[in-house]
Amino acid sequence: MIDVVEFVSGGLHLNPSLLAADFANLESDIKSLEQAGATILHLDIMDGHFVPNISFGVPVVESIRRVTDLILDVHLMLAKPADYLKVFKQAGADLLSIHIETAPDPRPLFDQIRKLGALPGLVLNPSTPVEKIAPFIGDCNLVLAMGVMPGFGGQKFDPSTLDKLKYIKKIADTNLLISVDGGVGDNTITDCADAGANLFVTGTALFKGNIRQRFRQLNELLNKR
Ligand code: DX5
Ligand code: ZN
Repeated sequence: MIDVVEFVSGGLHLNPSLLAADFANLESDIKSLEQAGATILHLDIMDGHFVPNISFGVPVVESIRRVTDLILDVHLMLAKPADYLKVFKQAGADLLSIHIETAPDPRPLFDQIRKLGALPGLVLNPSTPVEKIAPFIGDCNLVLAMGVMPGFGGQKFDPSTLDKLKYIKKIADTNLLISVDGGVGDNTITDCADAGANLFVTGTALFKGNIRQRFRQLNELLNKR
């Protein structure tokens, strides 16, 4: 199981979103990410109900697990997340994140996720007030502020996300993974770090060029601060 304390104290981590990878050559993209120094991978699961898009499901997560030992951070954009926790854990998820919009009291789901042997995360959309997640921040290992409405990569970052990150950082304990997802790239990643994020989901910004080079360039932006 992932040692969150060690991971968070390891500094700021890029979290590649495979939604923007080459699905016909996933293994080769994952190997490039490993060589670049990636520690974690972000897997976007979409059901066509909670979000207006369908991405990939359990067999793909299983296949990814077979070719890498990196931490698998599984982002569930599902209308009924409770029905799928077990299968995604069995497929290889280390972190399982659910949306507050689908689980107004997420604590029973956090308990289930822990019982399965994974770590729970809580996600909120740009349109959801951050106060909605405040009561539950102490009960999970990861909080993810969406920088775009979920469903598609390549959208523009909503700057109101920065205030949400600041709010989360202020009330979080030091071992919380504070993640940001959507529209994170060259022009926004530093602001996200300054606002308190320590985990940066990057899809388009990372895969739009040479993966190793882009990984290095984005990491440099984080380390230059
Ligand atoms: C959006 C997904 C994101 C997406 C980010 O619904 O949750 O993880 O892949 O993509 P970019 O980095 O292109 O905004
Ligand atoms: Zn995501």
